[in-house]
Amino acid sequence: MSTELMDLNITKVEQSKIESVDWENLPFGRVFSDHMLIMDYENGAWNKPTIQPFENLSLTPATSVLHYGQTIFEGMKAYRNKEDEVFLFRPEQNAKRFNQSAVRMCMPTIPEDTFVDFIKALVDLDRQWIPTKEGYSMYIRPFMIATDPYVGIRPSSTYKFMIFTCPVGSYYTEPVRVKIETEFTRAAHGGTGAAKAGGNYAASLYPAKIAQEQGYQQLIWTDAKEHKYIEEAGTMNVVFQIGNKILTPRSSDTILDGVTRKSVVEIAKDWGLEVEERKITVEEIIIAAKNNELVDAFGAGTAATIAPIKTINFEGVDYELPAVENRDFSNKVLSYLNDYKHGSTEDKFNWILKF
Ligand code: COI
Repeated sequence: MSTELMDLNITKVEQSKIESVDWENLPFGRVFSDHMLIMDYENGAWNKPTIQPFENLSLTPATSVLHYGQTIFEGMKAYRNKEDEVFLFRPEQNAKRFNQSAVRMCMPTIPEDTFVDFIKALVDLDRQWIPTKEGYSMYIRPFMIATDPYVGIRPSSTYKFMIFTCPVGSYYTEPVRVKIETEFTRAAHGGTGAAKAGGNYAASLYPAKIAQEQGYQQLIWTDAKEHKYIEEAGTMNVVFQIGNKILTPRSSDTILDGVTRKSVVEIAKDWGLEVEERKITVEEIIIAAKNNELVDAFGAGTAATIAPIKTINFEGVDYELPAVENRDFSNKVLSYLNDYKHGSTEDKFNWILKF
């Protein structure tokens, strides 16, 4: 590895775009901060990284990622408080998962410390782009693409690693209606379900479109073999509360190991709640919903944060969940995580990187 953070070459924008941002109405993922980081891989090693103005890439139409989808990404967020302190939440978890995705997709890895240092350097440079409005943050998108100009099938020998950032509002602006998917499949054992690989998301679009036409914003995927067990929702992991018990599918090779989900589990345990991370059947969720014992259900993800689920559809029947304002656990965990990520509560679990 030839890259040391001190080697980072920085070219700043001549004119910042920051004045053109409507800070009161930020959609998710459409506004981009001034700078991006790029690092190329060739001849078996990473080249020197650069930070430069955010701009278009130039790629040959033969670039291998465009044909075979050898690409991975991460999603992280930075937060800023009124004192202008910046916070990253568990960035080392994203660095670790990025490398796990890289190995599965036959791509080169990046030392975890270096990955986090890059994030820090880019976010620090554009720290004025981090919104301070409640519920807003800076979304960080590290990703890697295969760049060989070659139309044959083989792992690329060249790659481009990049990071850009976007000031964002909520991913879901209201409680979501979800459909339990029992026909299409997101991931099967031995596949790429645990990797943050672009193709996983591309393959989800058609089933999600059908669900959207039926009035549901998201799918809850089930296992590929029997469609009997709950997996995840694609943009987020899922967590349920039945009676006093918190339930969430445990990570596996078909479920993304979500940082928000695992943080919720640790928090719930710390609060003395009963938590079960295990295989969860669709049947037990539906029986609980029918018996009014399903008191809470929500998605957990970096982009989605804690996204309350309003309705669960299964086999054509809608099951309505309790009003969001009456849900103790998800409201409490959302507010605790918000405080935690803005440094306004003790960093009890050592999850914060502040600068
Ligand atoms: C994230 O939560 O960061 C994700 O990657 C989900 C993405 C579909 C926006």
